[in-house]
Amino acid sequence: MTHDDKSNLMWGGRFSAGPDAIMEEINASIPFDRKLYAEDIEGSRAHAQMLHDQGILSSDDHASIDAGLRDILTEIERGDFAFSRKLEDIHMNVEARLNDLIGPAAGRLHTARSRNDQVALDFRLWVRARCDAMITDIARLMQVFLDKAQAHADTVMPGFTHLQTAQPVTFGHHCLAYVEMLARDRSRFEDARERMNENPLGAAALAGTGFDIDRHATAAALGFREPTRNSLDTVSDRDFALEFLSACAICATHLSRLAEEIVIWSTPQFDFVRLSDKFSTGSSIMPQKKNPDAAELIRGKVGRISGSLVGLLTVMKGLPLSYSKDMQEDKEGVFDAAETLELCLAAMIGMIGDLHVNEQAMRAAAGSGYSTATDLADWLVREAGLPFRQAHHITGRVVALAEEQGCELADLDLADLQQIDESITEAVYDVLSVDASVASRTSYGGTSPANVREQIDYWRERL
Ligand code: ARG
Repeated sequence: MTHDDKSNLMWGGRFSAGPDAIMEEINASIPFDRKLYAEDIEGSRAHAQMLHDQGILSSDDHASIDAGLRDILTEIERGDFAFSRKLEDIHMNVEARLNDLIGPAAGRLHTARSRNDQVALDFRLWVRARCDAMITDIARLMQVFLDKAQAHADTVMPGFTHLQTAQPVTFGHHCLAYVEMLARDRSRFEDARERMNENPLGAAALAGTGFDIDRHATAAALGFREPTRNSLDTVSDRDFALEFLSACAICATHLSRLAEEIVIWSTPQFDFVRLSDKFSTGSSIMPQKKNPDAAELIRGKVGRISGSLVGLLTVMKGLPLSYSKDMQEDKEGVFDAAETLELCLAAMIGMIGDLHVNEQAMRAAAGSGYSTATDLADWLVREAGLPFRQAHHITGRVVALAEEQGCELADLDLADLQQIDESITEAVYDVLSVDASVASRTSYGGTSPANVREQIDYWRERL
């Protein structure tokens, strides 16, 4: 090989001088793409095997390439590998080391391949594995919620709209609302995984290759459904990463909403839940405080995850086909989003699992704020045959009376109620309690304890 010491070993043929230090710094991706070492080596081994099976690589060369690649994997895993910024990225770091270990045969590995399909492969394998991890972690959080829902199928709490008391619900139903969100989050990762599960290897630089390669063989070896169908698209597509990020961002948004509820519920004013000591912190100055820091951090970390999505969308917009170096900016945001979401899921699993629910406080709040006013209106429709609008009006007057007397609806005298509408009877008191209210909400998807138990069975069967 004839190249100047200072020019690049891998592509330095037409260069007479090495890069400026700043060029090296802006160009290098090894500080972050070293994370892809296992995928890079797995992909290279599959490629070498295929080249050998196709008669492009001799048995001897294949054997030494494969052994060398396995040694490199061990070196990296042991922490014995010297990554070099001069060698830009993980692909060239591995190939250069292979050259050290086995000599010029190493140069045959890159036959019918380019870093463009190589990086598309490595990154896809990495993102695919993260999809699997998310699918597992989200299912674990769903399980934790199902256990809480089971324990609290009958626990009443106020349901809110506008964060104002609306109607009583069960805490089990509230937990199952998150099970629904998480199930959709999980299916987004499943869908994204299915769509991305095509083999980019063999697209080469952008146009495919004249060598008689077998892309179906490498697809099978690497667990892909099939090879990608268009080489230009293959080396320039990053929408698998965008889909992954958007699934992360939506899931993180759900976790952030939940975290906000935990923050609100754990205030002394609400006192609906108590966080375990394991998932809260104290204040260095105010001894009475127990702060929901983990929940606050989960609420806040959605910022960087959504930021990564917007970042990559912005990198990709306007890029002409096919590969451009801009695309090297695809990785850090994805790495960070994946790590961040996995941490948030783990923290949420711990926090919800350990959460103490204050049933008394929830019950007291559920019964205040005239939360069963709709039940009274519904009773007037059902029992007195009134049109709902008229029933609504009468109920409004009843609420005003309770407000005036400073009591709850169930504490009003029958005589006073009959002054407002004579069709009201003693039987109305049956629907004014919160337990009666939630028990009556049996429409499909409603909050009744019976529904909650059915929905728990539904999800237990599916998980
Ligand atoms: N480090 C590069 C990246 O992450 C690998 C692909 C380089 N391809 C090239 N034509 N320079 O995108």
